[in-house]
Amino acid sequence: MGGLGGTLPIAASDFAMKWDSLYKFLFGVCVFFFVIVIIPMIYFCIKYRERPGNIPDRSFTHNLGLEFTWTVIPTFVVIAVFGWGWYVYREFNNVPPNAQEIRVVAKQWTWTFQYDDGKTLVNELYVPVNKPIRLTITAEKADVLHSFYVPNFRIKKDAVPGMFTTAWFQSDKIGQHLVFCTEYCGADHSNMMAKIIVLSDEDYKKWQWGENVEIPPPVGLPWEDRSQKKAEVFAPKSLSGLALKGEKLVHGLGCMSCHADEKSPRIGPSYHGLYGKPRLLADGSTVIADENYIRQKIEFPQRQQVQGFQSGVMPSYAGQLNTEEMNALMAYMKSLQ
Ligand code: CUA
Repeated sequence: MGGLGGTLPIAASDFAMKWDSLYKFLFGVCVFFFVIVIIPMIYFCIKYRERPGNIPDRSFTHNLGLEFTWTVIPTFVVIAVFGWGWYVYREFNNVPPNAQEIRVVAKQWTWTFQYDDGKTLVNELYVPVNKPIRLTITAEKADVLHSFYVPNFRIKKDAVPGMFTTAWFQSDKIGQHLVFCTEYCGADHSNMMAKIIVLSDEDYKKWQWGENVEIPPPVGLPWEDRSQKKAEVFAPKSLSGLALKGEKLVHGLGCMSCHADEKSPRIGPSYHGLYGKPRLLADGSTVIADENYIRQKIEFPQRQQVQGFQSGVMPSYAGQLNTEEMNALMAYMKSLQ
């Protein structure tokens, strides 16, 4: 199977190896069954073709042993494939708790990356090697569906306006890795590319502090950089972070008159210890206060009424925050643990 590996992009993440093993297994199973079905079929077609004087034996109806075998063996193969696929898929959805979070906003036709320290980059994502990175992905409001795809890492996740999705990776290959948009999103869809630049620990730290680092070469197939917009770095003006920007927004919008800074609730719940925790709803069910929940409460506060709070008090803030501001607000809430 060595030659087959050459048809896949270079494997540059944990998942890549895991998906590739599954893929190669599936490919092998397909080849095996193709051969054992097609070759005898051709042979039988020739050997038992209709010829004068060749009378078929009509007494033969079935072969229980054979039918049993070709039902049971494939059943086990299919169950094994399901189990294996489920295992790898689950890995992809289990983000390690120590992963560094980076927020991704897709819009026609660029990728914006927001770091917790307040840095915002367009079409370039710098990450340290061998460290888990969590991507919280969304698309700009009133934009279209995009999909974040890194062939070298074998990760792909939809970017949906008004919804937050999660992907994670850990790359062991220093270099530049190409990101494609893989959901048709309009005229410049095919140019909607970004680069993930995996740096050594040392270089990543330097980069974080704004020092110049040598950019490592592209990894994998040669590719042409056709991304529309060259990277721009919007460095924070002061020593602020994304969370601080969120805090300013929250104060600017007057949220604090009902929600308060301190840990005790007022008319509305306190933001402290809210993010990522279960919320008990009026109907007795619970929901995790993740990005999707918080966004919903901002835009449609009457939905998912929280137990112990009056309904219909909070006005909708739909349309008052753009997606990057929404991300800043999420970072702020997350910081209030
Ligand atoms: Cu964005 Cu295709």
